[in-house]
Amino acid sequence: MTMKAHANIIGIGLLGLGTVGSGVVRLLGDVQERLLAKTGWRAEIKRILVRDPQKERRVQVSPALLTTSAQEVLEDPEVHVVVEVIGGVCEAREYVLRALQSGRHVITANKDLIAEYGEELQEVARRHGTLLFYEAAVAGAIPIIRTLKQSFSLVSLQEVLGIVNGTTNFILTKMAAERVSFAEALQEAQRLGYAEADPHADVSGLDAARKMSILASLAFDRVFTPADVRVEGITHLTQEDLERAAAEDQVIKLVGRAVRNGDRVEISVAPTPLPRSHPLAQVSGCYNAVYVYGDAFGETMYYGPGAGSLPTASAVIGDLFTLLVRQEAGEALDVVAG
Ligand code: NAP
Ligand code: HSE
Repeated sequence: MTMKAHANIIGIGLLGLGTVGSGVVRLLGDVQERLLAKTGWRAEIKRILVRDPQKERRVQVSPALLTTSAQEVLEDPEVHVVVEVIGGVCEAREYVLRALQSGRHVITANKDLIAEYGEELQEVARRHGTLLFYEAAVAGAIPIIRTLKQSFSLVSLQEVLGIVNGTTNFILTKMAAERVSFAEALQEAQRLGYAEADPHADVSGLDAARKMSILASLAFDRVFTPADVRVEGITHLTQEDLERAAAEDQVIKLVGRAVRNGDRVEISVAPTPLPRSHPLAQVSGCYNAVYVYGDAFGETMYYGPGAGSLPTASAVIGDLFTLLVRQEAGEALDVVAG
C-alpha cells in the first residue's frame, strides 16, 4: 500500500484509550510543536478503537474519533501508523499483523505480544517494508530496547539484570515501608494504572518473565520466549519475610536475570534478598532499573519509572519520533508528503 500523508501529517490509528492510550493522546498534544520543528511532521490521531465508547475518559477526545470496529481503524486510508495499546495477545496479534501487512507501521507497548510473537511480527514487517517498534513494552520510560538493539548491537554482552515490573516493586516497597497488606498495595497499584488488566501476570512474575525474554533475545541475539524463563512471583511473600530480611539489613526485590553461561543463556525471575546498600535495593515504588554487563564496557545501569500512563506514553512517543526521523532519511518507508 502506498501511503499518502497530506501536508506533512502522519495519521495515527490508536488501538486502546486506557492508561497508556490516554497518556499517548495527552503527550502527543504536548509535544506537537517540537515534533513539527524537529521532523517537519504533525501527528494526528485519526481513529481510536475502544470497547465502550460511552466510558468516561481521562483525556478529552472528539467522540467522532471513537469506534468499536478495528476494521475502521485498520482500513482508514488516513491511518499510516497504528499504535497498539489494547493489551492481550489474540486480538492484538491479529490487528498488528493486519496493520503491518497493509503497509502501516506499528508501535506497541504490548510485552505479552512481543514476548510470544515478536519474531513472527518482525518477519511480517520485514516482508512488507513496514516497521515495528516496542520500546514501551519493557521498563516504561527507560529506553532499554533502543540501548540493546542499537547502542550495544555489536558488542558482546554477558548479563542483563534488574527490576522490570513496576507493580511488584510498588507492592514490595509499600509492604516493607508502610506495612500495608499485599492486597491493599496491589489495589493501590491498580488504581495508579501500574498493574496489568489481569494483575496475576504481575504478581506471578509472568510480566517480568515476558520482559526478560525480550531483553535476553536482544542482548544475546537469539529468540527466547517466556517458556525459557524460570519464574517465581511474589504472592507467597509475607510481611514476616520482608521484616526478617530487614532485620538482616536486606531488602527483597523481584529481580530478573539473563546471564550467558558458555553457550547457554539462563533466564530467571525471582524474589531476591539484596543488601540494603545494593543500588537495586534503593529502587522504590513503580521504578525499574536495569544493569547491562558487557565485555567492552563492564557495567551500565538504567533507571526510571517502569509503569504508568505518561512514562509509558513517553516511550511510545519516542518510537514515533524515531519512525519519523527514519522516514525523513527515506528508509523503508513510502509515506509521501502531499
Ligand atoms: P487498559 O488501561 O486496560 O486499556 C486498554 C484499552 O484498550 C481500553 O481503552 C479498552 O477499551 C481497549 N481495549 C481492550 N481490548 C479491546 C478490544 N478487544 N477491542 C477494543 N478495545 C479494546 O490497559 P493499559 O494499562 O493502557 O495497557 C495497554 C497495553 O500497554 C498493555 O499491553 C500493557 O501490558 C501495556 N503497558 C502498560 C503499562 C502501564 O503502566 N499500564 C506500561 C507498559 C506497557 P475500553 O476503555 O473501552 O474498555
Ligand atoms: N504492569 C506492568 C508493570 C506495566 O507493573 O511493570 C509496565 O510494563
